[in-house]
Amino acid sequence: MVDGEGMNAGSRPTPNRRPLTTFQDIEAARGRNEGAVYYSPCPQSIPLSELTGMEIFCKLDNLQRTGSFKERGARNALAQLTPEQQKRGVIAASAGNHAQALAYQGKLLGVPATVVMPKFAPLIKVSNCQKLGATVVMHGNDFGEAKAHAHELGKERGLAYIDGYDDPAIIAGQGTMGLEIIEQVPNADAVIIPVGGGGLLAGVALAVKTLRPKTKIIAVEAENVASFSAALRAGHPTRISTQATLADGLAIPEVGANAFEIAKDLVDRCIMVSEEQIAVSILRIVELEKGVVEGSAATPLAACLSGQLPELANKRVILLLCGGNIDPNVLSRVIERGLVADGRLCRFTAMISDRPGGLADLTAQIASSGASIKQVVHDRAFAGSDVSAVHVLCTVETRNHQHLAELRERLKSHGVETFDS
Ligand SMILES: Cc1ncc(COP(=O)(O)O)c(C=O)c1O
Repeated sequence: MVDGEGMNAGSRPTPNRRPLTTFQDIEAARGRNEGAVYYSPCPQSIPLSELTGMEIFCKLDNLQRTGSFKERGARNALAQLTPEQQKRGVIAASAGNHAQALAYQGKLLGVPATVVMPKFAPLIKVSNCQKLGATVVMHGNDFGEAKAHAHELGKERGLAYIDGYDDPAIIAGQGTMGLEIIEQVPNADAVIIPVGGGGLLAGVALAVKTLRPKTKIIAVEAENVASFSAALRAGHPTRISTQATLADGLAIPEVGANAFEIAKDLVDRCIMVSEEQIAVSILRIVELEKGVVEGSAATPLAACLSGQLPELANKRVILLLCGGNIDPNVLSRVIERGLVADGRLCRFTAMISDRPGGLADLTAQIASSGASIKQVVHDRAFAGSDVSAVHVLCTVETRNHQHLAELRERLKSHGVETFDS
């Protein structure tokens, strides 16, 4: 049981002490969360299994009411506040999912929530929090600045600060996902867990390793915010400089002290994935799994596709699809970029002669190669010194990189030079 002071664990990290969360805490969290947090399915995905050469199961926490696993920890922490603290309310810093979870579970329990979100927080998460009745304060250029401000406001207003990844009750709540996974796939060989501040990793790893010590725990982080591997190298949480990432939920520059203390000995491997791998994985999940996930939740698939886990071939692997809160605008850009990375959407400039029928010939060649034109821009004025030449900027849909190369080869053999745009 944590009181208001205990809730402040994230603000007083003391490395190398006994972790504050135990397996029994996770079991107790499960009792508190029952009926209030969705027991999400964990089906096998045949298409993703075929794609990766592993036996893939997806834990679908993107289907939670607020679209992420964060409700697990939020409910468990809020339910343990004293009645007086519940009345006064809570505050937290969050890039979005913890905020939404606190807002929603707070509403169910009658606990007012104030959330401080950094300015980069996705619009969908900001507006969802407001809809759920939370008081939203936008502050700071990164998570660290938002967190410092939330602590100040909490002190001023007498609100209990609930750390999104390092509070022992939050870690225990996230661990309930591990209990469910082992019930649903008792013979799992590996669980791949995204890591931001480390609460999800610590909770799920503690649950899984307690029940199934041989199951491998793979942590996955965004290359642009590799704070967990930095902590592993240093032997303690360490602050790193970060770059923007599609996996906004993982953008935490320093992992939590409690989370790290628990997770560091339970993790078998830590994998980094690139922005491009994350984008392509979002697209694969849309196309193959028919699921909408945010960048953070696509990182487990990105890890499988990155070629860094050959030891998991043909093994039963659980991917935590732990959040689905992606801005539709970002999703559409990600899909387009994923198509470009796949060679399924491409752009090149073709140089043709400015005689009647030149453009018709070009489009006929493109059509007969099986590619589909999305857009052409016919440019006479800026095509260089040769007035008999015209530049045509072509955006076309192709099947893959090879199909694109064949198309350009075909145009070349018809006397049409192409170059990248
Ligand atoms: C969708 C999603 N996945 C993973 C994480 C990482 O969780 P943690 O900060 O506990 O490591 C977050 C954190 O906000 C998240 O929103």
